[in-house]
Amino acid sequence: MKNIKEVLIYSGFERFWHWAQAGLILFLAFTGFEIHGAYSFLGFGDAVRYHNIAAYLLIVLIAFAIFWHLTTGEWRQYIPTTKNIAAQLEYYVFGIFRNAPHPTKKTVLCKLNPLQKLTYFSLKVFLLPATLTSGLLYMFYRYPEGGTTASLTIETLRTTAVIHTACAFALAAFLITHLYLITTGKTVTANLKAMLTGFEDLEGSCEPESGK
Ligand code: HEM
Repeated sequence: MKNIKEVLIYSGFERFWHWAQAGLILFLAFTGFEIHGAYSFLGFGDAVRYHNIAAYLLIVLIAFAIFWHLTTGEWRQYIPTTKNIAAQLEYYVFGIFRNAPHPTKKTVLCKLNPLQKLTYFSLKVFLLPATLTSGLLYMFYRYPEGGTTASLTIETLRTTAVIHTACAFALAAFLITHLYLITTGKTVTANLKAMLTGFEDLEGSCEPESGK
């Protein structure tokens, strides 16, 4: 018989950080694409103003999140692994449509599957830092130097803008995929409920269920 228990898988801070980050990134995408010229809603000036405020809030949130990851040791959950990665991919491409069992089990100490580890690792180590850095370069392309105003050249600024926009598209692609994948837990709403309440029904260890 399976030993299923409702366990706390996401702490209060983790849930706050997750939803605050999601909200800020959505808001930054919304204001950012207005700055980009995709549509007009707030007006260019306000879009820039709110985009800058949200950017500062995101930086503060990320600083707290880094502290939390380091002090709780939760950063270890995100170390990428190749173990079971093919089985996980096969599950998303074929298994899920045939009602196959999940190839890996979720536990408190191992709550991410190999593809999630790889995706979230890339997000934290490459995509978010690239978005932040290009955003800050965009913000401070003029800076005081010896009583005058120095600036990056217009060419550098164009490259910065292109990199920042590319990061924004990559984040939008991540969000869309993420929204689909959260529906692929034990039930359609199990993952969403876990990130809202912190609790999820879990069993067993980190070992693969199907032995793949
Ligand atoms: C800390 C993070 C961020 C900082 C510091 C930042 C900063 C900036 C700045 C200064 C601009 C130019 C505003 C102007 O024209 O005066 C900008 C534009 C933009 N941002 Fe951000 N941003 C950040 C995060 C994001 C995120 C998370 C997204 C989307 C998911 C995003 C999407 C955009 C887009 C699409 C543009 C327009 C780019 C263009 O067409 O040139 N930004 N950002």
